[in-house]
Amino acid sequence: MKFRIFLVLASCITSVVTGLVLSRVGSSPESAKSRTKPLIGLSMDTLKEERWQGDRDLFVARARELGADVLVQSANSDDTRQISDVQALISRRVDVLVIVPHNGGAMAKAVNMAHDAGIPVLAYDRLITDCDLDLYMTFDNVKVGELQAQFLVDRLPKDRKSKIVRIFGAKTDNNALLFKKGQDNVLKPLINSGRIDVVHEDWTQDWKPENAKKIANAAITKAGSDFDAILASNDGTAGGAIQALSEEGVAGRILVTGQDAELSACQRIVNGTQAMTIYKPLTQLAKQAAEAATKLARSKPLFALGKIDNGKNEVPSILLDVVVVTKDNMMDTVIKDGFHTAADVYGDRPPP
Ligand code: BGC
Repeated sequence: MKFRIFLVLASCITSVVTGLVLSRVGSSPESAKSRTKPLIGLSMDTLKEERWQGDRDLFVARARELGADVLVQSANSDDTRQISDVQALISRRVDVLVIVPHNGGAMAKAVNMAHDAGIPVLAYDRLITDCDLDLYMTFDNVKVGELQAQFLVDRLPKDRKSKIVRIFGAKTDNNALLFKKGQDNVLKPLINSGRIDVVHEDWTQDWKPENAKKIANAAITKAGSDFDAILASNDGTAGGAIQALSEEGVAGRILVTGQDAELSACQRIVNGTQAMTIYKPLTQLAKQAAEAATKLARSKPLFALGKIDNGKNEVPSILLDVVVVTKDNMMDTVIKDGFHTAADVYGDRPPP
């Protein structure tokens, strides 16, 4: 099955324009031909973390603006459930599928099923591997990892060996591997030269904060609280780790990284228990993905600037940029962008 997605080499990513969504779950299936509006199926891994609710709402809102309908399913971090969600969307005869996979490998099956039904598939934020994926839209995930690690390297003591703990994401999520790859790009030379000692590291099953807390506790059992930083891969895992540090009375003394600019993480940053997060402008991703999905649904041609190897093919890809957020630029980034309000981040305190 070939859909019209073109790779472009230069900066001519024209606005990926089209329309989207409105929850139609519960209405009877219509044939694709009898419909006047495009119908998009959005299959999500989870809605538990703050960011994914934002992704869904922004995507649906943009789709609606563009005159499309959307059916949304969330699989609660369960591969079997996500496959049956996709089956349900296919049987509702969606014109295009947008998938945030729980497991990038397991969802190849969903892409094959969709293609058998003549439906193109866009992977949203997380790659689906080893299949003929039509389009991938995400942030620069290797850069996320590089920025997290570089932030620490710039602040670790220079006069002695530094000790760090590494908390990776879920092994089933290709992004977690990319974040680690970016972190390794920066850290490996320093680990090899002996300047940085990784006292403990582990993967966080399903990205759950409670699992990250267990990893931080294991690090404390092994090394005491005698380390300089926790390289946590996102804000959820940072939150779990900081809880463990708080119980030891050392939160704020040990640098902790994050990602997603979740409200609770921004609050921890201005309160001093988390050192940084990475702001990924979800509005841009969700809107552009809604526009691309609507184009695909209407069989309009689409242009992508990049390509990413998913193990089987070079997948046309669109990668958006990310921004480091600390207490110093909180006002100029997430708050200026309207991602959070100053009142929500600073509470009763006056913003700087
Ligand atoms: C996303 C992160 C998110 C994590 C856990 C990753 O694939 O890129 O933004 O924090 O999943 O949901």
